Amino acid sequence: MAITFLYMLSATLLYLSSVSNACPPSDRAALLAFRAALDEPHLGLFNSWKGTDCCHKWYGISCDPGTHRVTSINFQAEAVDAISETGFRTGFMTGSISPQICKLTELSTLTMADWKGISGSIPPCVGSLSRLRILNLMGNKLAGNIPAGIGRLRLLTVLNAAFNQISGEIPPSLTNLTSLTHLDLRNNLISGKIHKNFGELKKLGRVLLSNNNLIGAIPSSISQIYRLSELDLSANRFSGQIPPFLGKMEVLATLNLDGNRFSGAIPATLISSSVSVLNLSRNGVDGEIPDAFGPRSYFMVMDLSYNKLRGKIPTSISSAAYIGHLDVSRNHLCGPIPAGPPFDHLDEDSFVGNDCLCGKPLMGC
Ligand SMILES: *[C@@H]1O[C@H](CO)[C@@H](O)[C@H](O)[C@H]1NC(C)=O
Ligand SMILES: *[C@@H]1O[C@H](CO)[C@@H](O)[C@H](O)[C@H]1NC(C)=O
Repeated sequence: MAITFLYMLSATLLYLSSVSNACPPSDRAALLAFRAALDEPHLGLFNSWKGTDCCHKWYGISCDPGTHRVTSINFQAEAVDAISETGFRTGFMTGSISPQICKLTELSTLTMADWKGISGSIPPCVGSLSRLRILNLMGNKLAGNIPAGIGRLRLLTVLNAAFNQISGEIPPSLTNLTSLTHLDLRNNLISGKIHKNFGELKKLGRVLLSNNNLIGAIPSSISQIYRLSELDLSANRFSGQIPPFLGKMEVLATLNLDGNRFSGAIPATLISSSVSVLNLSRNGVDGEIPDAFGPRSYFMVMDLSYNKLRGKIPTSISSAAYIGHLDVSRNHLCGPIPAGPPFDHLDEDSFVGNDCLCGKPLMGC
């Protein structure tokens, strides 16, 4: 009798513990709906999605060890390619991202990156995933707008929707994402301006917006983003002056403004700044190259080609610490090319197509 009772008790406890260790049925149902909207024909990643416990060996899924709620969906084609034995790139997935994922209310990471074929839009309900820290949907065929509700994700640190077909404007609510460190919306069809309060995103380190249809000026509030190290606005239709404050930002190292409609002069601040990769190529920049080089000028890249620069190459350029790749071709520069070790290695391609530059490596004066 007692033994039977003990047996029943332990069986009950075993049953209860296996239930409480499994993911909640509602999380499992949401994942199965997510899976049903996708088709991944080559790798069979979803074959591991078996059994009642979605926290147990389901590919790409992680759970909170205490609550057993799903906290992470992580599908990266690159990562799969690295471990796949076939030796060639196989990552490909079609379908769409089901709004059912919004039932995974403890989700902190949603990564579906580089699958090339996922289409549809970013479900607007992602704005309700208040625990979300990483949203990485790069390298797919997502279209539609960036949902305005994204501005509610106060914990979001990474927003990456690069290399898709996203259109519409950057929602003004984005300026509420005060935890954001990494914003990557490159290679989409995004239009409109950068919001004037964009600088409220004070934790941003990288802002990558190249290859879109963005217009307008660089807002002055960007000067408040003290940790900004990379600003890539290339291949858009930005206009106005290049603001001098960019040369005073303490950790800004990469500034790509090429392929826009910027006009006016190059701010002297940029010449002696923390910027070491500077691309201003293919704009309408005019005036003279500021005579402001000095020991703080260290450029791995300084590309000023295809602009309207006039006057001489300043003699102070000889005092730069280093200039790896200089390109001042296709401007209206004139006069002797200064000599100096920081850029002695350059060949004529760096200087061709000007009005009357002369001296090594071009023809003598
Ligand atoms: C930012 O958040 C505040 C407080 O929640 C809200 O009142 C405001 O409308 C939001 N701003 C935008 C542009 O959505
Ligand atoms: C600078 O930008 C131009 C135009 O986008 C591009 O063709 C060029 O390769 C870039 N320069 C460097 C050194 O990357």
